Amino acid sequence: MTTHEQIINYTIKPHGGTLINRVVEGEERDHLLEAAQSYKVITLNPWSISDLELIGIGGFSPLTGFMGEADYTKVVEDTHLENGLVWSIPITLPVTEEEADKLEIGDDIALYGEDGDLYGTLKLEEKYTYDKKKEAQNVYGTTDEAHPGVKKVYDKGNVYLAGPIQLINRPKHDEFSDFHLDPAETRQLFHDLGWKTVVGFQTRNPVHRAHEYIQKSALEIVDGLLLNPLVGETKSDDIPADVRMESYQAILKNYFPKDRARLVIYPAAMRYAGPREAILHATVRKNYGCTHFIVGRDHAGVGDYYGTYEAQELISQFEDELDIQILKFEHAFYCEKCGNMATAKTCPHDASEHVHLSGTKVREKLRNGESLPTKFSRPEVAEVLIKGLKQN
Ligand code: ADX
Repeated sequence: MTTHEQIINYTIKPHGGTLINRVVEGEERDHLLEAAQSYKVITLNPWSISDLELIGIGGFSPLTGFMGEADYTKVVEDTHLENGLVWSIPITLPVTEEEADKLEIGDDIALYGEDGDLYGTLKLEEKYTYDKKKEAQNVYGTTDEAHPGVKKVYDKGNVYLAGPIQLINRPKHDEFSDFHLDPAETRQLFHDLGWKTVVGFQTRNPVHRAHEYIQKSALEIVDGLLLNPLVGETKSDDIPADVRMESYQAILKNYFPKDRARLVIYPAAMRYAGPREAILHATVRKNYGCTHFIVGRDHAGVGDYYGTYEAQELISQFEDELDIQILKFEHAFYCEKCGNMATAKTCPHDASEHVHLSGTKVREKLRNGESLPTKFSRPEVAEVLIKGLKQN
C-alpha cells in the first residue's frame, strides 16, 4: 500500500473499499472544458448539483455516476446496490420527457447549474422512467404530498438519466470556505490529528443542549468529533445554513476542547427520509473517514411521519454490513431535578421535571422572537441565532 492509500484508509475503509474521485483537474480539465462546448446541455437544479458534487468528491463512494435502473430498483426495493452493498436512497438525475427525447444513449452531456455555470459532464448510459408512488412509499415511507421529500419526488421530471459523471467545477460554498473539506481531506485531517476513532454528527438545525449532550457523550469514548452539518437545500422553514454555521462555531469555541472537534460542511440536500436517510448519512460519514456515527431521536425526520426510534431500528438491521459503528442515543432532555441533561436511561425523575428540546422547538421560539433559555441553548449560541435571524 502506498502512503497515500494508507492515509486514505487510516481510520476506516470507504464504502465499497475505494474512495471515488471524479474531479477533473489540470490539462484533462482544460480538454474537457473545450470538448463540453459541443456537448448537448441540460440544466440541473441545486439538489442535483449537490448530488453531482458528492459523487465527484467521493462522498457517495462507491457511486461514480447517477444510478442506472438496476441499481435504482434494487435500492428502492431492497436497500442495496446491484453489487450487494447497502445503499438506502436513490441518487438519480431527473429530467422531463421532452429533455430526455433530445438525448441519445452514448451522448456526452454538459451539466449546467441554474446559475449558468458548467459543473460537470455525464456519459449517458441509460434513460428510464420510474414509479413515483413506489419510490415515495419505499424510500420515504409515505405517499403523502405534504411530506417535503415526497413532494420533491412528485415534482421532478419523469425520466432518470444514468451514467458516470465528471466534476469540472465545484459549487462554491464561498461563505464556508474555512470549513469546506472533501472526504480525502477529512481523512488526511484525522490522520494529522492522530484521531483513530471519529464520531460523525449530522445536523440540519442550530445546535441545542441535547445535541451537545450526545456529542459529548460520544466524545467520552472516541478520539474526535466531526461536526458535519448539512448545508445543501433544506425546506424553507429550516434555519439558513449561514446562521447555523455561526452557531456551530460559537459552541465549538466556547464549549469544546480545541483538539477534539472539527467543523466541516456536508454539501448535500436534505431528503427528510428519516430511517432511510439515517443509513445514507452514516454511509457518507464513513466515506469522510468517521468510524462512528450518531443516530438520536427521529433522525432526519419531519412532522410525525416517523417513530422516535424508527431510524435507529432500521439502521440496526444494516449495521454489520455498513461497517461503521452506530451510536444510538435516546431522547435527551434537561431535567430540573438532576440540574443537567439526561435521558430515561440516566434520570429517575418524573416527566414534569423534563424540558424537552428539539430543532423544531428552537426554531419556533426563535421565529416568535422568544429568548432561548440556557436549558435549551448556550447563551453564546442563542445570541448568534437571534442576531442571525434578524438579519435574514
Ligand atoms: S437531522 O434532521 O439532521 O437529523 P437534527 O439536527 O435535529 O436533525 O438532529 C441531529 C442529530 O441529533 C440526529 O441524530 C438526531 O436524532 C439527534 N437529536 C436531535 N435532538 C435530539 C434529542 N433531544 N435527543 C436525542 N437526540 C437528538
